[in-house]
Order: sequence, then C-alpha cells, then structure tokens
Amino acid sequence: MLAGRQTVHPFPARMAPPVMAKKLMSLRGPLEVLDPMMGSGTTLLAGLRAGHHVTGVDTDPLAVMIANVAGTPIDVTLFERRAAEVMARVEASWKDVPPWPRASDMETRTFVEYWFDENSARQLRAVTNAIGEVEEHSVRRAIACAVSRTIIVKDAGVSRARDVAHSRPHRTYNVPPYRLVELLPRSVRHVSRVLRKVPRVNTRFQVHEADARELPFAENRFDIVLTSPPYGSAIDYMRAHKFSLIWFGHSIGQLRRLRGGNIGTERGTESAEGVSQALEVDRFCDVHGIAQRYSSILNRYAGDLRRVISEIQRVLRPGGAATVVVAPTTIRGATFDLPALVQELAQASGLSLKARLDRPLDSTRRALPPPRTGHAALDTRMRFETILDFIKA
Ligand SMILES: C[S@@+](CC[C@H](N)C(=O)[O-])C[C@H]1O[C@@H](n2cnc3c(N)ncnc32)[C@H](O)[C@@H]1O
Repeated sequence: MLAGRQTVHPFPARMAPPVMAKKLMSLRGPLEVLDPMMGSGTTLLAGLRAGHHVTGVDTDPLAVMIANVAGTPIDVTLFERRAAEVMARVEASWKDVPPWPRASDMETRTFVEYWFDENSARQLRAVTNAIGEVEEHSVRRAIACAVSRTIIVKDAGVSRARDVAHSRPHRTYNVPPYRLVELLPRSVRHVSRVLRKVPRVNTRFQVHEADARELPFAENRFDIVLTSPPYGSAIDYMRAHKFSLIWFGHSIGQLRRLRGGNIGTERGTESAEGVSQALEVDRFCDVHGIAQRYSSILNRYAGDLRRVISEIQRVLRPGGAATVVVAPTTIRGATFDLPALVQELAQASGLSLKARLDRPLDSTRRALPPPRTGHAALDTRMRFETILDFIKA
C-alpha cells in the first residue's frame, strides 16, 4: 500500500524561492546569475524562467545530479522508454547480482549490509548495472534520480531505515516495507512530470560540483549572486544522501570527508584559521559564554562564511548585486545572529548593504533544523528570515 508514504526527495521545496524568483523576474535579462550553494537548484530554475543565464554550485553530488535533471531539457518519451527497459532488466537479473555497489570498498559494503537487506541490495545493484548500459548521459542521470527517490524517503522506502530524509536514520525494519521494483515505476512517473516542466529556453544552464569557498570562476563574471547558506546547525543533507550516493560510485569514506568539509556541519577548526583574530563570535550570540564554549564550531562556521562571501565579492562584476537569505540560527541551544554576521562579513569584503528585510517565515514550507530545545521564544525567533541585498562598488 503506497498511500501515506510521502516521498520528499528529490526536488524538495527549497527555502526562499519566492523571494529569489521575484527578484529574478524584476531584472531585465539575460543576466549572468550564480547560486554558489544551490541545493536542488530551485533558484536556478527561477532564473531560467526569468530569461537569465544561470550557474549553480554545490559540493553535494546528489544536489548536482538533481539540479541537472531539473534544468536540462531531455526527450521525456525516450526517458520513459529507457526507464522501462531498465526496470525489465532489473526484474530479470537481480537475483544473480551481488548485494553491494559496483567497485565498493569494505566500509561501504558494511554500511550496505546494515542498512539494506540482501534483496534490496541486489535490486539496487541490478538497477545501477542496467543504468550503466543506457547510452544517453542525461537519461542515465534522470533514471538515477528516480532510483534515489525510492531510497531517500520521509517514511519507508527500500532501505531498513525510517525517515532517511529528515531525521537521524534508525534501522526500523529488518525487511524493508517496499521493494525497488514496486516503487520505481511510481518514482519514474514523478521524474517524468519534473522533466516535462524543465524550462525550454535559449539561455545557458550550468551546474558545477565545487566548493563555494573556492569558486571555479574568473573575477567579475556574474551580474547577480543569490544564495542561502546552510545554518550553523543545518540539516545534515549528507547523512541522508549517502544512502543513495553509495549506489552511484561514491564510498562512505569519501562522503564522510565531503560532509566534514561542508558548511554548517558541527565540527570545529583545529586551528583558528585566522578567523578569531578578526571576529569575536560571542558578539553574535544571545547566551553569554556559549560562543566561548563552542568557539571552534562557531569560528569554523564564521570562517567558512567569510570565505564564501569574499568569493561572491570576487566573482561579482563591479555594480553587481548579491542577495543572501539567512535566519537567526541556534547552535547548541543558543541563538546566533547570522544576519548580523553576514552583514559584517560582507561589508568587510567590499560589499555594501543596499537593503535589509526581515520577514516572518511560512513555517509550513520551510525546512528548519530540528529544534534543540522546547523553548517557545527561541522557536518564535527562528521563524524569521532576513533578506540582505548587497552591491559591489
Ligand atoms: C540549500 S542550501 C541552504 C538551505 C538552508 N539554509 C538549510 O540550512 O536548510 C544548503 C546547500 O549548501 C550546500 N553546501 C554546503 N557547504 C557547501 C560548500 N562548501 N560549497 C557549496 N555548497 C555547499 C549543501 O550541500 C546544500 O545543498
């Protein structure tokens, strides 16, 4: 029974797209637009629809895959035909393939053994084998997205975990409630619908797997930068995404390193990396002393943001505009004034503040990090977001 099983991946509702979309629509194009932490690429799609050339960057291979699928026009009939061929191959071959990903190491296989039962693992291996035989690259990618949707789900999917998408996964099932062969057709239909909505435009759409702290672009390249950085205690996307990415050539070790380097993961810096000299993070925290206690996490986060903002400044052309959407965030129970920090970092890197708008968040649409305290006042404060508009002189 599929009713009630809610799939939240891919193409989740992303934060602040209406703000970004409105901004992009108001600008006469085509302009060069960048989102250096694009997530699933909602802002990029809004940029395309508004007639701009768009470029997106993310460190997360799954985000890159999803954004590419959502923004690259492909022949939907061909996609459906290839997906049906893949499904037929899986049905015919899954019992004869090994229950682990291709070219996987021991650590990755141990992870698979724990989180997937043997039949699911064989079906997933069979599907990746079959996808590998699809000729067209963009079709392969779209089918991989459909497979991913059967693994990263809010409730039950093809792994032994529940709610892989949102919470820390728990091994709830010995035998997963669904088989890939049951779920994939429905997921393929969903991806078909997404593919039908890909904007057919003449402007450029480009996505890079890269780091926003070290953007692979020449200076003065973009007219507009729009982004929303992860919070200090951001949703840990990689924790969920690894369940899928291991089936597509990534190892647990590699994904662990990637996660450790991501912005917003709760990990301190070994050295102060030149951040604390310039920034007293305590100034941005409402609980006296907490910033001291967690200073290495906060310093690392502030240092990452500083690098991102200075990269945004570098790649923007003179006169270009940057919009950063942030909200106050909690780190270990203390509220951290992220908007004030971003404002200070931007000004220090040569971006002047043009406008600041604080507005209440629609909490039903917004993916907030799970609350760490039941404190009502804290919750209220978190349900605001700040839109900061900067200009490069
Ligand atoms: C969609 S955005 C922000 C969403 C929202 N602020 C939140 O915390 O839920 C987060 C994205 O930033 C990406 N990200 C994290 N560190 C990054 C980095 N160093 N370079 C580029 N993207 C990064 C993540 O992979 C994720 O897709």
